[in-house]
Amino acid sequence: MERTCFNTELNLNNVGQEVSLVGWVSKRRNLGSILFIDLRDRSGIIQVVVNEDVECPDIRNEYVISVKGIVSKKDNPNPNLKTGQIEVVAKEITLINTAKTTPLIIADETDALEDTRLKYRYLDLRRPIMQHYLDIRHNIKMATHRYLDSYKFVEVETPILTLSTPEGARDYLVPSRVHQGRFYALPQSPQLFKQLLMIGGFERYYQIARCFRDEDLRADRQPDFTQIDIETSFLDQDQFLTMMEGLIKEIFKSTVNYDVKLPLRRIPYQYAMDTYGSDKPDTRFGMELHNLKDLLINSSFVGYQTAEAISGIKVENVAQSTSRKVIDNLNLEAKKYGLGGITVLKIENGALTGSFLKFLDENQQVGLIEEFKAKNNDIILIAAGPYNRVMPLLGALRCKYARELNLIKPNTYDLLWVVDFPLFERDVESGAITSTHHPFTRPRDEDLHYLDSDPTKILTYAYDIVINGYEAGGGSLRIYDQNVQKKIFEVLGLTEEDIQRKFGFFIDAFQYGTPPHAGMAFGLDRLAMILGGTDNIRDVIAFPKNLAAVCPMTNAPSCVDEEQLNDLGIEIKK
Ligand code: AMO
Repeated sequence: MERTCFNTELNLNNVGQEVSLVGWVSKRRNLGSILFIDLRDRSGIIQVVVNEDVECPDIRNEYVISVKGIVSKKDNPNPNLKTGQIEVVAKEITLINTAKTTPLIIADETDALEDTRLKYRYLDLRRPIMQHYLDIRHNIKMATHRYLDSYKFVEVETPILTLSTPEGARDYLVPSRVHQGRFYALPQSPQLFKQLLMIGGFERYYQIARCFRDEDLRADRQPDFTQIDIETSFLDQDQFLTMMEGLIKEIFKSTVNYDVKLPLRRIPYQYAMDTYGSDKPDTRFGMELHNLKDLLINSSFVGYQTAEAISGIKVENVAQSTSRKVIDNLNLEAKKYGLGGITVLKIENGALTGSFLKFLDENQQVGLIEEFKAKNNDIILIAAGPYNRVMPLLGALRCKYARELNLIKPNTYDLLWVVDFPLFERDVESGAITSTHHPFTRPRDEDLHYLDSDPTKILTYAYDIVINGYEAGGGSLRIYDQNVQKKIFEVLGLTEEDIQRKFGFFIDAFQYGTPPHAGMAFGLDRLAMILGGTDNIRDVIAFPKNLAAVCPMTNAPSCVDEEQLNDLGIEIKK
């Protein structure tokens, strides 16, 4: 097929040249004696002019055609097109293939439902914005390969059919035909393998790794997603984070030409929770949480007197718009977080108002206004109860108000590390202890003594990178001391048998000269979302699942033939 160049490679310098182009008909306007075609290829759109004297087949939107013609300067440039200053005057138009009328409009703006877009994803992918998202994704990968290669990292693939890994979500299982009744698990991450590669002497590993987690889906979660997965030996936390910051800088520069200022801020987990109510704080706006426990614990409101935490935020200039209905909704939100409700106080005429005032003495009322430097028409929201419920509620309300009040400047990036995560967390309901990250995360040396007395006090060498309020990646230094590892399994309540069954091979490996090692994984999809400027993870994945974990195009997951089930020795429970 004859093609001299891509559409958008042409500009005023090419005027007068004969070119051959191929692509899809994006739009056609027939003015009787003259026909205008917007021809779209991978690079973008160029206008083709077909005069009366040129023979032109019947063409419609999305037909595939080839065009031979002369580049000429446009009298009225189109500022919206990269090629807007030129057009191609056709000498010959050839129809290569026809197309049915598409069920969605092939343009950046589309009103198609998401399931329609996913059902006809191959058409949705023709939209320039979708190509932009996948370009960004590709550029992130290329920057990663370049940067890590320059630091002597080696890319190694690890198995997809494997044993369950300890990331804490539910596994996807694959039944074995040869060993009926046994299952492979799809990896939630290559965690165990990358640590084994460190024992295997590689020192610097990476992989653009597919991961699988059966968990509730959200706007930033997919059941199969991709990590930039990294592991290194012989680096301390500072050295490792500095190396990772260089990678992030390279990624931002080569995808959106943004200069990330290094070093990134590092804030302790506890500070993030106390101040922003989140371990992935968006610090592009203020509205920080204030600890009100000392001020309010003695109020006459019983709910405050016994509360583990009392904290609040001030929202400016919304008192007038905070109707009864708004307050009801805030209370509903509080209930979702397992709290009875939330206190809403308005500032009017220089003083607090609201029925709740009867529980607050003069000092407490003045104290609140001073604490928040509150002004007329501001509101103060106060939550009281268990720390693990109060903080996330206020953190979520902080973000909700920031969105509603447009407090976040578009196209700004806010990057930071959250460090010093606790080793264990306690389930609010059951009280059970679980690993905050995974059981191979190394406790800080100075906290090791709590292993016997109060394990929940132990902090770790673990870190998350947070970008614009998203957890864009996370990792840790790993345990390489077998005694510490054993004790941690004990605290988690794992028996010797559990350990052997789940990670016996892994624990064995540690006896053969394990180097100190550290690693992390970036969420590639999340990076692509942030850099592409979308808040929907499905936009940056070519063939994603919808929120019900279904692919509307292939209809996966599907039923299978009886015969296939028989082969696997599986019977479906009715
Ligand atoms: P973690 O579980 O924190 O760490 O995952 C690392 C990063 O992967 C991204 N991510 C997801 N993205 C889309 N959909 C999902 N369902 C999903 N789950 C996680 C996030 C997250 O920060 N093995 C460890 C890393 C390590 O310790 O080296 C791990 O997987 O951006």
